[in-house]
Amino acid sequence: FRRLGLRGMKQRLLVVANRLPVSANRRGEDHWSLEISAGGLVSALLGVKDVDAKWIGWAGVNVPDEVGQRALTKALAEKRCIPVFLDEEIVHQYYNGYCNNILWPLFHYLGLPQEDRLATTRNFESQFDAYKRANQMFADVVYEHYQDGDVIWCHDYHLMFLPKCLKDHDINMKVGWFLHTPFPSSEIYRTLPSRLELLRSVLCADLVGFHTYDYARHFVSACTRILGLEGTPEGVEDQGRLTRVAAFPIGIDSDRFKRALELPAVKRHVSELTERFAGRKVMLGVDRLDMIKGIPQKILAFEKFLEENPDWNNKVVLLQIAVPTRTDVPEYQKLTSQVHEIVGRINGRFGTLTAVPIHHLDRSLDFHALCALYAVTDVALVTSLRDGMNLVSYEYVACQGSKKGVLILSEFAGAAQSLGAGAILVNPWNITEVADSIRHALTMPSDEREKRHRHNYAHVTTHTAQDWAETFVFELNDTVAEALLRTRQ
Ligand code: G6P
Repeated sequence: FRRLGLRGMKQRLLVVANRLPVSANRRGEDHWSLEISAGGLVSALLGVKDVDAKWIGWAGVNVPDEVGQRALTKALAEKRCIPVFLDEEIVHQYYNGYCNNILWPLFHYLGLPQEDRLATTRNFESQFDAYKRANQMFADVVYEHYQDGDVIWCHDYHLMFLPKCLKDHDINMKVGWFLHTPFPSSEIYRTLPSRLELLRSVLCADLVGFHTYDYARHFVSACTRILGLEGTPEGVEDQGRLTRVAAFPIGIDSDRFKRALELPAVKRHVSELTERFAGRKVMLGVDRLDMIKGIPQKILAFEKFLEENPDWNNKVVLLQIAVPTRTDVPEYQKLTSQVHEIVGRINGRFGTLTAVPIHHLDRSLDFHALCALYAVTDVALVTSLRDGMNLVSYEYVACQGSKKGVLILSEFAGAAQSLGAGAILVNPWNITEVADSIRHALTMPSDEREKRHRHNYAHVTTHTAQDWAETFVFELNDTVAEALLRTRQ
């Protein structure tokens, strides 16, 4: 490794996340191509510059043979990534099952799966076993690459059992754990059958981080109410050992977006889009096709707007980019059909022979096309039902330097706490309110747009992914040093 230069520290960092920043596609027996993975965690961590960390994670693909594993390990090493190989069965039980069908909906206040409740209950134990086994497999890879003094930064709900595995192996490991989703109210969390084991494991970390103060508060309440431990302003205390708990709001690398806007390829996209939608206002949605993103609710609110404002028909278009995700999980398959059905109905109702009000794409866009879209659109609609932070809202603001477009933002996204003064905040469940906000955004006077944008732009460009990572690692070192001092006193 090269050495880390975080605030003068000389130290190595092992970042452990379920998903590596690149996903692998097999092109031949020993040939792999790599492409950037989707999601907030990856886009934030890609924005961390000058950090010579190594990444440990799953490449998103099943590689049963040794030739393939060796070739992929080599290809990933060039990106400073180390793969954890998970077989199909474990992916099914741990990733599709426990992570995405149980923890994900629960942490976003959608509760334990509604349909097929009995089947879920029956499968629960085997899925939780697979979850623990998978976490142990990540831990095994960490042990292989760990050297004394390394900082180990575990990420997200997939790896809540990892801090315990690591500390059981070596109590002196410096372990941080960061959650990229909301941590729900303890009243929701306590319905989880494995609530005790997961909390106890997370508390093995030295530092536990969340995007917002509210999530940190919910976590501390869960520990006090469910485990009967003591919550202090610093964190959670158990028999004299303190686990520090704090909020570290994430950001993006805003310079990367600003630089992209100067590229000829992006400028070309910008002029094509401007020409294509001339004479119409353009609203943008960019989401993974996930139930937490509130895509059906957003589209229904747009329908209500069209219904109530016939003078806007044919003068406004909604571009919805819905990036397919977790396609093996039945809930996600149902969502895809539901969204298609609603879009088809609304386009049939309000479209003409030459134009439709909604352009819906079920795919990801390359970075340049995405930056161009962010730059040319008049309004961005981020209507998550719950969202840890939501970095699409940050990316939109970063690209709106000249246009000063309006951000409509769900009050249930973590980003509402940082961009709330500049955005129009909405309750995404209230489609009348969202429809009214669409009208407000489309007709907003330029001085108000300018003022709101200035506020958000200042935030996005000064609270970067780099600051987030530096602050977390700095705090982790500090916490461990203080704990050491305390034990020596
Ligand atoms: C969210 C999660 C990430 C996850 C991403 C994409 O942002 O917090 O941990 O990587 O979604 O989801 P996926 O299941 O494709 O990794």
